[in-house]
Amino acid sequence: MYKIFKTVDEVAQYTAQRLLDKIQTKPEAVLGLATGGTMEPVYAQLEKGLRQHPMDLSRLTTFNLDEYIGLAPSHPQSYRYYMDQHLFDKLSLAQERVHLPDGMAEDRADACRAYSAAIQALGGLDLQLLGIGSNGHIGFNEPQTSFASRTHVVELSEQTRIDNGRFFADQREVPTHAITLGIQDILEAKDILLVITGRHKADIVAQLYHSGVDEALPASALKQHHNATIVLDSEAAALLPRQEVFNPKASVV
Ligand code: GLP
Repeated sequence: MYKIFKTVDEVAQYTAQRLLDKIQTKPEAVLGLATGGTMEPVYAQLEKGLRQHPMDLSRLTTFNLDEYIGLAPSHPQSYRYYMDQHLFDKLSLAQERVHLPDGMAEDRADACRAYSAAIQALGGLDLQLLGIGSNGHIGFNEPQTSFASRTHVVELSEQTRIDNGRFFADQREVPTHAITLGIQDILEAKDILLVITGRHKADIVAQLYHSGVDEALPASALKQHHNATIVLDSEAAALLPRQEVFNPKASVV
């Protein structure tokens, strides 16, 4: 299902509210979290919502989608650092319930297995938040990743390294590898929100709309999921056919 809002602010409010609703109805929920520029306004809204209506977060568990290999948590471009800055430092989460893949693990295969297993042991993800890369990746699952994949090490595509280079002082500092939750892990989430904003994502949104379920476009895996919502602002939706924007399946707010 597509949900299309006029502004990024409205997208952030809607997405944050979905997270708040989940926490309210299930205080022991397991949330799958994402990073990237798209999520910054979402986390700002979430924090604002929690300030206005405080909730007990002590039983909440979070698993982030991905982490760069070779960046320590203290590195300003690590996803752990991002999460601390944008969310974790502002909330009272139980630290032992906050999880990110360990980009510094010596035994990466073992760390990957343990990550997927830890999610399964808790009964799976109740809600998975996702952004999208300009090549259609979700998490760091690049095009042609098997839809049956579990947490694994990936070599980042040139496109992804260029896209994410904007966060680094020098393109050469962008790591070449990362650990990401697999597509099968993501598809097992009970509820999925794919959030996409900005004109620069309009092409991939149109490709996703027209695509079948195809490993060449990782986000198309969500078309197999019964409870996935694609949340767009009007800029990201700019190249969708008009009938989709005005179709009863999409709610235009
Ligand atoms: C990175 C992350 C993805 C994220 C994507 C989009 O590659 N690994 O999980 O969805 O960036 O990021 P942005 O929101 O900055 O466009």
